[in-house]
Amino acid sequence: MIPTTPLDPAGLRELLSFYADAGVDEPLTEEPSNRFEERSSRAAAPEATRPADLAAAGNAPAPARAPAAPAQPVPRPAQPAAIPDEAQAARARELARQARTLDELKAILADFDGCNLRHTAKNLVFADGNPEADFMLVGEAPGRDEDLQGLPFVGRSGQLLDRMLAAIGRDRTSAYISNVIPWRPPGNRDPSPLETEICRPFIERHVELVAPKVLVTLGNPSTKLLLGTQTGIMRMRGTWSVHRTQSGMEIATMPTLHPAYLLRNPAHKKLTWRDFLAIKMRLRELEG
Ligand code: URA
Repeated sequence: MIPTTPLDPAGLRELLSFYADAGVDEPLTEEPSNRFEERSSRAAAPEATRPADLAAAGNAPAPARAPAAPAQPVPRPAQPAAIPDEAQAARARELARQARTLDELKAILADFDGCNLRHTAKNLVFADGNPEADFMLVGEAPGRDEDLQGLPFVGRSGQLLDRMLAAIGRDRTSAYISNVIPWRPPGNRDPSPLETEICRPFIERHVELVAPKVLVTLGNPSTKLLLGTQTGIMRMRGTWSVHRTQSGMEIATMPTLHPAYLLRNPAHKKLTWRDFLAIKMRLRELEG
């Protein structure tokens, strides 16, 4: 609820940071609005009612001088929202199978309209780091900073992840990073089981194309998905498992705690430190 009495600057700052902590990081109106419907009706608007066309058709005077407009993200062509269902998951499986390279997989994802998270996200968050690396980490889903930059793990938990990598002598030139879900869920909500199922073939193919020697799953969702387990992260972490790709490749996998969890529970950092030491040793053994 917006307060009815004016706030001084300090009070306003406090209120805004309270909202940001609660995940409210977009200014909205008092009334809810259906963005999917807006997109579809914009797409369906008769040609001559769009402002640019009216001006071009001489129905409206072209402005003598363009008014200064704030920088806007480049709009994507409007696409009707898909109903997330098993058919979309089947389409995702088929499309992911077709990707022969990471560039093809990225292009397929950029085109894929079967997951509605793409409509509320600003950017596709595909991956960061070195795809030739022997070491790949997979998180859950992008947050606000990742969505704005189109890169995984660039916010606070990304900074912690970078420090964890540095502790074992790695950085983004010697590690490759992605997420189970490549679009930010609105307000950082959990992705639904169906959204996860629709995105699953893409991250599975992603891992298969990178073919790292060591895979690290960060937190519960990526551990459950890539190891096909229902066992919680607290029991899974710190022990080696195997991720089997569709083509039968077996990849040594270490589940560990998610950096966002560690920011909230710093006492558990020592557990992840142990996991990272085990990862470092394994990578060293594999180097020969
Ligand atoms: N958390 C994730 O799981 N992934 C990101 O990219 C950022 C935060």
